[in-house]
Amino acid sequence: MSEKSAYDDLPDGVVVAGEDGRVVALNPAGARLLGTTTDAALGCHYRDVLPLVDEQGRDWWVCTDPYEGLRSRTRQPERQLTLKGGAELLVTASYVRGDDRSLYRLVVALRDTHARERLERSRANLVSTVAHELRSPLTSVKGFTATLLAKWDRFNDDQKKLMLQTVNADADRVTRLITELLDVSRIDAGRLEMRRQVVDLPAAIRKAIAGCVAAGQPEHRFVLQERGGLPEMWVDPDKFQQVVGNLLENAVRHGDGTVTVAVGPNGDGAVVTVADEGEGISEATAVRVFTRFWRGDQRGGTGLGLYIVKGLVEAHGGSVSVGRATGGGAEFRFVLPAGTPSFL
Ligand SMILES: Nc1ncnc2c1ncn2[C@@H]1O[C@H](COP(=O)(O)OP(=O)(O)OP(=O)(O)O)[C@@H](O)[C@H]1O
Ligand SMILES: [Mg+2]
Repeated sequence: MSEKSAYDDLPDGVVVAGEDGRVVALNPAGARLLGTTTDAALGCHYRDVLPLVDEQGRDWWVCTDPYEGLRSRTRQPERQLTLKGGAELLVTASYVRGDDRSLYRLVVALRDTHARERLERSRANLVSTVAHELRSPLTSVKGFTATLLAKWDRFNDDQKKLMLQTVNADADRVTRLITELLDVSRIDAGRLEMRRQVVDLPAAIRKAIAGCVAAGQPEHRFVLQERGGLPEMWVDPDKFQQVVGNLLENAVRHGDGTVTVAVGPNGDGAVVTVADEGEGISEATAVRVFTRFWRGDQRGGTGLGLYIVKGLVEAHGGSVSVGRATGGGAEFRFVLPAGTPSFL
């Protein structure tokens, strides 16, 4: 394969100059970034093809002369540089040296900054969303504690109790948000630690239902249906609990009526559905509910629950979807493979 065609499919731009500093290869991505053509660039001096300046406007090749500069230098780490025409590029370079340390090949890689800017923008959005989510409960905590401290004697016990209850609930919200954010960052970084064990799924679901009842929901709102025998299921018990707990909480908070949980065998694993009798989720929004911070109503949530559910289910090698329950309302369905012990 010739040098030229080997670089042709690279998404990044590549410019190669030989020992005399003349360009011997320029791939199509590089030609596009530099606003030239391969034919026009071949044989030209690399400085003319790559008129790069640093952030102070200095000629980059004067600052780092690959041919005449330090002979021990073999590469340039990624730098953001500007073409004389104004376009910004991320530039890395390799200085390929012979036995006598003289440079016989200069390879420069170019990448446009759009992808990185987009990523930075989405990070900035995430930071501002998180900051906003943290600020509203903290504003209330601060407001009530400041009022109580300043005017302690003017309130009766009932009023003080009510304020402290609000502070307490808001502190819980902050703690919960931080726990959710830590889960999200573990999911995003692919760092979820799985501790698989044999789990009795119906028993685990009963435990999750008991959790909702303990939190104040009437027991008769929940129905568990066991549909056939299950294989031995190796799952992470805490994560399974968290998935079911999140779906139950959503059914209670965003749905209505009886919440029916069904569990049964599916292929070599299991399927669990959680259905309610509320308004349900339209097809148009169904695709969005699993994205982070997406929420359809203002009933107290941060919109991270289903994103975490999806991440946890997928970490088990399973999948989750949402549809319409037979009795109206939303029906979340997730499947899990039987799994194997984590140490295998
Ligand atoms: N059972 C349901 N019925 C109707 N809408 C639902 C149901 N479950 C989820 N939704 C919608 O999907 C959105 C996203 O759910 P998700 O669990 O991700 O966030 P949340 O419940 O708002 O907040 P969090 O779970 O982070 O406290 C909800 O805001 C709600 O609009
Ligand atoms: Mg939720």
